Amino acid sequence: MDWGMKNRLSRIIKPDTGRTVMLAVDHGYFLGPTTGLEDAKSTIKPLAPYADALMLTRGLLRTSVEPSVELPIVLRVSGGASILKELSNEGIVASMEEAIRLNAAAVATSIFVGGEYEKRSLMNLSKLVDAGERYGIPVLGVTAVGKDMGRDARYLSLACRIAAELGAHFVKTYFCEGFETIVSSCPVPVVVAGGKKLPEREALQLAYNAVHQGASGVDMGRNIFQSEAPVAMIRAVRALVHENASVDEAYKLFNKLKEESPKRRPKLQEAAASFD
Ligand code: 5RP
Repeated sequence: MDWGMKNRLSRIIKPDTGRTVMLAVDHGYFLGPTTGLEDAKSTIKPLAPYADALMLTRGLLRTSVEPSVELPIVLRVSGGASILKELSNEGIVASMEEAIRLNAAAVATSIFVGGEYEKRSLMNLSKLVDAGERYGIPVLGVTAVGKDMGRDARYLSLACRIAAELGAHFVKTYFCEGFETIVSSCPVPVVVAGGKKLPEREALQLAYNAVHQGASGVDMGRNIFQSEAPVAMIRAVRALVHENASVDEAYKLFNKLKEESPKRRPKLQEAAASFD
């Protein structure tokens, strides 16, 4: 791995803890106005200071994030499918040159192992890795998105390992029983998605279990921005990930910060069905 690639990765996965708290707000690229992201600009602004990286599409980056923001951007560059049709039928929708113009620290694409367009998604990843290697931009392989995708350790190990073998520099997957076998058989860092919204304590437990079973942190979306107190929640997640807080400590922190931090606005509508 060359210097530029290592430098970009170390802006995302912090060298002092070896972990990251990525904030995922890319859901709209196939879900439309997901609950909590209807007004994405207002959602992202108070959360950004507590994230180590922001994962989103170029459209949301341009419209909803101030260019003066300091945190690294993980640019979602796959798309072309919606929740209404076959999710695995994705292509690459933004070039590496565009990612560089937008000052992305990394790019992300989904792979759909076992999905109808499995090969297409794996070729998307492979081509992206080629382009990323050319310019020193790391690639995040995202596994198992969609209701019909397997979520057990056997399946997720398969998907994560394939992503790493095709050259992904880090991988995002879901938490499941036996998670440590996914991490131990994957030669690149693994970050965990939060999945559908859980009660806050359960979401903190999930993040705790993941990092204590080897995850290099979280790339969490709905369990932060759909929380009743999103800023309190991301700060509690940080305490677990970077300060080795216990679940009890993090939950106590959440409850304390909840009193003083902005509450999520009431839902405009219960938009876009969950993809879990
Ligand atoms: C789906 C993604 C999302 O960013 C990810 O799944 C969101 O995180 P969460 O599950 O925590 O809402 O990559 O394509």
